[in-house]
Amino acid sequence: MTASSPKLFVKSYGCQMNVYDAERMADALAPEGYVAASSAEDADVIVLNTCHIREKAAEKVYSELGRIRKMKAQTGRSPIVAVAGCVAQAEGAEILKRSSVVDLVVGPQSYQRLPELLRGAKAGLKPVDTDFAVEDKFERLVAPAPKAIRGRGVTAFLTVQEGCDKFCTFCVVPYTRGAEASRPVSQIVAEAERLAGAGVREITLLGQNVDAYHGDGPDGRVWSLARLLYELAKIPGVARLRYTTSHPRDFDDDLIAAHRDLPALMPYLHLPVQSGSDRILAAMNRKHTAAEYLRLIERIRSAQPDIALSGDFIVGFPGETDADFEATLKIVRDAAYASAFTFKYSPRPGTPAADRDGQIDEALKSERLQRLQALIAEQQAAFARSLIGRRISVLLDRPGRDPGQIAGRSPYLQPVQLVAPGAAVGDLIDVVVTGVGTNSLFAAPAGDAREAIPELAEATG
Ligand code: SAH
Ligand code: SF4
Ligand code: F3S
Repeated sequence: MTASSPKLFVKSYGCQMNVYDAERMADALAPEGYVAASSAEDADVIVLNTCHIREKAAEKVYSELGRIRKMKAQTGRSPIVAVAGCVAQAEGAEILKRSSVVDLVVGPQSYQRLPELLRGAKAGLKPVDTDFAVEDKFERLVAPAPKAIRGRGVTAFLTVQEGCDKFCTFCVVPYTRGAEASRPVSQIVAEAERLAGAGVREITLLGQNVDAYHGDGPDGRVWSLARLLYELAKIPGVARLRYTTSHPRDFDDDLIAAHRDLPALMPYLHLPVQSGSDRILAAMNRKHTAAEYLRLIERIRSAQPDIALSGDFIVGFPGETDADFEATLKIVRDAAYASAFTFKYSPRPGTPAADRDGQIDEALKSERLQRLQALIAEQQAAFARSLIGRRISVLLDRPGRDPGQIAGRSPYLQPVQLVAPGAAVGDLIDVVVTGVGTNSLFAAPAGDAREAIPELAEATG
């Protein structure tokens, strides 16, 4: 690094895939000499890596662009401003019309072309690239340097599948991320080995529909997500594997078996159902019923009883009646979630449901959201409490809140705070859960637990 190295600041909104993409953008620009800026004020290139999933998410980009405009006026600096991500893909050149501060618009399928696009932006050409590239983006994207990987910590995302062919009637993803495409197995294994070689202990495989993964295997056959997981579990150093997000329709028997067979595959599953009403599920084009979802959960739990379930729910989908909403509360009670994300339906331009009759009043959406959130919060707290006194593994991934504390994640993705002298970030240690905070667990190293909390001696013995 030299004093004159250009500085890059990427601000990501939306899902984990954007977090992964932000890293790949930094990797793509590293050979050009770019280093990370500590803030937008400090940057030569600012990338807003946007999300289009709900109106609020999409509008954030314009308020951020307003702030950047002010910052430019106040400081007299003139960084290059790029809009990337799903708003870039959905709105393209429209963004240049709405905001004169933008120098470049680049969709998620074109990040391999960032270096040349930035050169165009610097020349004042205001490039817009929202093509769904014919070339293999991942083949052309630059691999991260070991130093960059180490700087990102001991957990990492790895996109294995991108795009979606499901066309749920509320969702923009099939339009912003394009058709479902899977990366070849060898490419993924090489990336995972690279991550593990630089100290990564936990890898989360990403895909908009990750369980629809069907990548070319080294044996000339098409591999499923399950087969890929068995292969990745063999990589030395990889202690934990996760994957997200799955669709109930693509969840096959092999994946259920992987949860039974692979100790590295964490017992946590994000499996959105969206609604508990069959009528609404059909109107959403989810192509399964509430009973089918519950049966699937039952089969997964009989293979791996320890599984903690997570999900996504939309309230106020067009035509949702009180009875439909009650059915959603019922499926939440029946499935018993360890955590879940809840959203008010947001009509998105170009999606079929946006123009439907029966749009629900905002106040009613808010009321339903509150009731659903209260139920889920109850379930989440009950799940956390059920862990008190239990022995679990924690992957230490960052310094703790207070001096002497260290923090990590439980198998079920909960943050865990503990005091563990001698333990370091990257260690996987056995602990006993001693208490529950609002959003995290407290624990003691399993060896110390007897002294720390005598009443738990029985549980740990
Ligand atoms: N591929 C994943 C989800 C991707 S989007 C799946 O099929 O489950 C993440 C979540 O955002 C969705 O599960 C849904 O709950 C929510 N979402 C998507 N579009 C939405 C919209 N128009 N309004 C409100 N929530 C939405
Ligand atoms: Fe969107 Fe449905 Fe595809 Fe998920 S499965 S990304 S909700 S269209
Ligand atoms: Fe948002 Fe695009 Fe992810 S719309 S949720 S950033 S796939």
